Amino acid sequence: MKFFIDTANLDQIREANDLGILDGVTTNPSLMAKEGIRGEENILKHYLEICRIVDGDVSAEVIATDYEGMIREGERLAALHPRIVVKIPMIREGLKAIRELNARGIKTNCTLVFSAGQAILAAKAGATYVSPFIGRLDDISTDGIELIAQIVDIFRYYEFETQVLAASIRHSMHIVGCAEAGADVVTCPLEPILGLLKHPLTDLGLEKFLADHNRQ
Ligand code: G3P
Repeated sequence: MKFFIDTANLDQIREANDLGILDGVTTNPSLMAKEGIRGEENILKHYLEICRIVDGDVSAEVIATDYEGMIREGERLAALHPRIVVKIPMIREGLKAIRELNARGIKTNCTLVFSAGQAILAAKAGATYVSPFIGRLDDISTDGIELIAQIVDIFRYYEFETQVLAASIRHSMHIVGCAEAGADVVTCPLEPILGLLKHPLTDLGLEKFLADHNRQ
């Protein structure tokens, strides 16, 4: 399972990359705005900066919601760097844009996916990644991990090449649940990744090893 970090914060991207387990980055318009990155030129520069830090796919989302606009923006984003993946919303025009960008050899990540039906459409259109949002489903008392397992089963049965990228991850157990469900990728903020490191018995065990060593 690949680990992507879901942020536009360069310090956090560097910190995750330094751990040596980072395979890519995802961003969205809200995450870019949170870092105060505004205006097309600054946004493009920021994506390039991210590509310089991480040796993996970097998802950059289009703002347009019409077919021509998404193709235009997608082409511009993809031309920035070979590792840019164009993030397209799961809407009717988006589906057509995914098909066309795929035909032009541009990688896509179909975002805002909340059902198996939407995931099947994204795979049929040739999306490189499909992003089901598990935390936002959990927020409305629907099991997000169950959706990941369902999509993974369907994609395996039909041998779809589209990778299941579990998004909207809120805590470390979401990551473990996604691993059990067979997700290809998890994208999450830094905290849930760091949470995987923690166990009180590891800390206590290390403390005892060092104390015993120092008593010799
Ligand atoms: O990048 C999309 C997704 O990961 C957003 O997560 O926490 O805003 O639901 P969240």
